[in-house]
Amino acid sequence: MDREAWLSWLNNVKARVRMDAPMRDRTSYRIGGRAGALVEPGDLDALQEILARGNAERIPIRVVGGGTNLLVSDRGFRGIVVTLGKGFDEVKVTSRTDAGGVVYAGAGAQIGNLLRRTAHADLGGLEFLAGVPGTVGGALIMNSGTTTEFIGDVVESVEVVDGEGRFWLLPGEEIGFRYRRTAYPVAGAVVGGSFRCVNRPRKEALADIRNRVRERRKTQPLHQSSAGSVFKNPPGESVGRLIQEAGLKGLRAGDAEISTVHANFIVNRGQATARDVERLVLEIRRRIGTELELEIHRMGEPDHEA
Ligand code: EPU
Repeated sequence: MDREAWLSWLNNVKARVRMDAPMRDRTSYRIGGRAGALVEPGDLDALQEILARGNAERIPIRVVGGGTNLLVSDRGFRGIVVTLGKGFDEVKVTSRTDAGGVVYAGAGAQIGNLLRRTAHADLGGLEFLAGVPGTVGGALIMNSGTTTEFIGDVVESVEVVDGEGRFWLLPGEEIGFRYRRTAYPVAGAVVGGSFRCVNRPRKEALADIRNRVRERRKTQPLHQSSAGSVFKNPPGESVGRLIQEAGLKGLRAGDAEISTVHANFIVNRGQATARDVERLVLEIRRRIGTELELEIHRMGEPDHEA
């Protein structure tokens, strides 16, 4: 399918479509070239059609959430970027028991919104996510959390649309949640998730959330553009500590900088490119160990050396 054919197809789907959309506007790094098309389906039917037809036509498709763990290359991505917004951002309590309840959130809901709504329903159990930026969908792909508590631990079920456009409701146990990694039995888009919560007075839950955000602000450069931890921690280690001990805090490549607040964060001081970030990644691996595993996800055509 060529570009004209894409455009006329997408224009007939219930979706917001932007051709040649700058991905820097869609990532917390504020870095990245353009996507061939940025598509926001209006409802589940539209998402199912986009995934089914796009994959059948072999158009490269990537689903992105809040873009808070994402490095998009400077050359951008030639395919379709699907993002879930309105129509996929509902948060609601779906059942209650004496001990707690289940809260459903659409993949496009902001994590902060899920936490606030849960607390206001006098429920708790998700507070460890306080201060994690991004969407519920992204958190369900990354198994977000701290180093000891993970969203996967409280997932009752996840709604998914697979690459052929079929809808699945998967129990949490089938998802293969690991440390900052998941193994969904189907490839496609996460549409929403249900979370097991416990009774907690709202004042207590809200105070807990506020305290955790305050703590995070002290140890992480939340006021600067970043994508959170760049590398996963090896078992029993903290990459941030290792990078600091190697004296690399503050090291710059172009406008990218190894954060002086938390060394496992790379921050964009304004005009950083994906290549700048990649140069720092390379340097950290050279100094600390080539086996360091990236936590951030890459997207797009690689940026070759000029
Ligand atoms: N440390 C340093 N220098 C630094 C950073 C950290 O010495 O520049 C030391 C700290 O003093 C502490 C230890 O390393 O003794 C651990 O640091 P921290 O508590 O900040 O945790 P982390 O292992 O660096 C992990 C997650 C974060 C999460 C925090 C808090 C990973 C890769 N990172 O960081 O998650 O917010 O714990 O729960 O697992 C993310 O995944 O994007 C993320 C931000």
